[in-house]
Amino acid sequence: MHGLPKVIHAKSTLSRIFWSIVCIAAGAMFCMQMSEVLRRYFSYPKKVTVEVVPTPVPFPSISLCNMRNLDFYTLNTLNRKFIADPYPTSHLNDSNPFIRSYMLLVARYGKLWYEYQDVYPHIFQEVFSRTTFSSNINESIISEAAVLLDEFIVNCYHAGNSCNRSRDFDKFFDPYYFNCFTYTAPSYRDGNQGYSLSEGIENGWSSIVLTGSGMLDSNKEIRILPGLHESKSAVAASEGVRVVIHLPGTQPFPFTEGYDVPPGFSASFGIRPRLNIRIGQPYGNCSNENPFKGGTTKYRWLSCQKMCIQKYVIAHCNCFDVSLPSLWEMKVPPCRRSDIIPNECMDHVTQECLDILMKLYDNIQCARKVRDMANKNSTLISQCSCFHPCEEIDYDVSYSLAKWPASGYEGDAAFHEVFYIENFTERFIDTPKYNVVTAYFTDANRETTMRDFARLNVYVADSNVIKTQESPEYGSNQLVSDIGGQLGLWVGISVITLTEVLELMGELFRYFCRANHITERRSPVRRATAVRNGLYSSQPSPFTYSDPRDECLQPMTQFRPDVT
Ligand SMILES: *[C@@H]1O[C@H](CO)[C@@H](O)[C@H](O)[C@H]1NC(C)=O
Ligand SMILES: *[C@@H]1O[C@H](CO)[C@@H](O)[C@H](O)[C@H]1NC(C)=O
Ligand SMILES: *[C@@H]1O[C@H](CO)[C@@H](O)[C@H](O)[C@H]1NC(C)=O
Ligand SMILES: *[C@@H]1O[C@H](CO)[C@@H](O)[C@H](O)[C@H]1NC(C)=O
Ligand SMILES: *[C@@H]1O[C@H](CO)[C@@H](O)[C@H](O)[C@H]1NC(C)=O
Ligand SMILES: *[C@@H]1O[C@H](CO)[C@@H](O)[C@H](O)[C@H]1NC(C)=O
Repeated sequence: MHGLPKVIHAKSTLSRIFWSIVCIAAGAMFCMQMSEVLRRYFSYPKKVTVEVVPTPVPFPSISLCNMRNLDFYTLNTLNRKFIADPYPTSHLNDSNPFIRSYMLLVARYGKLWYEYQDVYPHIFQEVFSRTTFSSNINESIISEAAVLLDEFIVNCYHAGNSCNRSRDFDKFFDPYYFNCFTYTAPSYRDGNQGYSLSEGIENGWSSIVLTGSGMLDSNKEIRILPGLHESKSAVAASEGVRVVIHLPGTQPFPFTEGYDVPPGFSASFGIRPRLNIRIGQPYGNCSNENPFKGGTTKYRWLSCQKMCIQKYVIAHCNCFDVSLPSLWEMKVPPCRRSDIIPNECMDHVTQECLDILMKLYDNIQCARKVRDMANKNSTLISQCSCFHPCEEIDYDVSYSLAKWPASGYEGDAAFHEVFYIENFTERFIDTPKYNVVTAYFTDANRETTMRDFARLNVYVADSNVIKTQESPEYGSNQLVSDIGGQLGLWVGISVITLTEVLELMGELFRYFCRANHITERRSPVRRATAVRNGLYSSQPSPFTYSDPRDECLQPMTQFRPDVT
């Protein structure tokens, strides 16, 4: 800006060339730097700051699932029924609704199994699995036959206060573990979200649970009841409790996340809360609600991803996978549903029965293939727009075990607590289980029986929250100052200079307007006079004097030398 007059007014050619080069070089540098600045700004960089802050976050919810998903009494009954009569068709009129449904299901496949087990072992492994059974028996019937809250959770304390089991625990159904229970702190239920966290195991949550299978019959010979185990599964035939520690109000996925605690141990979970704040468009992507509508739980990235896979399963296989969360538009049956097998197949196997079995197996395989495909192809998942939540609380968990209860009379305290303070056996008093329980849990047998229990401690190991926050790294303030810096450094333009230029242009515009105006109103002769008087002398002419715009013309005369 200041260079141009130098070029124009240069005394010698050399100096004119010099100033021209300087002007061109500065202009080029300016363009280069500006493009760099703009490119940087429009790439929307973000920065991540990590700090440790004492923010109150809610005490986590704790979800517990018993790995032996059915009640010990149900399992013993099933076992005895098969010993008494190995044909499932003989038990179709049983008084227990679960046994009736179970036997009907086994009976449907029974004949097929006898005929084809050697030819298609993989099909029967898939069909006789826990998840197939849970998608074929009414959920409310399974829930009755599965592990019940009062018979699973012996006691529970939070910060020294006894829990109220009926109020503090919610039941949810999992296709593998069946009945699972979620503990939510009463302070969270009361709507008091900012629960202050107090550190230490004595302020935490502690519970004794019955997880072992000591009450189960042991058979003389090896027998495997169909449908109670997942074959080729990494989790089959284990005993203990599956623990998930998650934010209250969110959906837990025991099969995906969580920890196994064996019976006969005391497990301590030390938690460290973590707060993640993410930035949305245009710097990044985050969402506050699930793109798949429905559900009352808080948004989690994991549930969105699983729903996304479910969407593809439904689209490709025309059935849904029970191990994935349900979608709102679930008009299709579960992939493992076998209603289609007609009852005639119980008596004699036809080609039709086999075809239907194959169809069922194809559906299961289809769901598995789509799951694998979606897990491998990141484009498919990204098409669902599942983003991390904009604000999310997470818990880092460290887990350790101690043997529990101690041997000798030290361990008797635990036995006393379960059977004489909580009166655990009295919870079975009105059920047919009472005799089994009183015969098994005896004072004389206490060393063995206590090995079926486990204790869980969940406590805050560090109440300082690790806060990870994303924020724009290069904001618009920074952009303005960088543009200003570049303009000042290379071309010498500031807001004041720009205003001066604008003013000049305004004046020029006014001058031409006025000139035209006069042309229209006056004769060419008078116009010439007016121009001479108005512009080339500082004295106002008689024609322009009455014009209010006249004053504005004054600076024009002062500007003239600069312009020319
Ligand atoms: C079950 O009950 C129905 C009707 O009550 C009867 O017809 C059928 O034979 C019974 N089945 C068995 C296996 O007892
Ligand atoms: C399950 O059983 C309940 C009550 O027994 C019934 O209302 C419900 O419709 C059944 N669900 C299915 C899927 O059959
Ligand atoms: C437990 O909660 C239930 C339901 O909120 C309530 O009816 C019951 O009185 C409570 N029990 C105790 C011992 O506080
Ligand atoms: C946000 O998501 C959209 C759609 O998936 C994608 O096109 C875009 O690149 C993402 N933005 C960032 C900053 O990751
Ligand atoms: C992933 O899915 C997209 C969309 O269906 C498809 O175009 C692409 O070929 C797939 N990529 C791979 C590696 O399978
Ligand atoms: C357990 O039984 C004892 C003796 O019968 C009784 O004093 C105690 O109150 C009972 N405890 C509970 C929690 O019911």
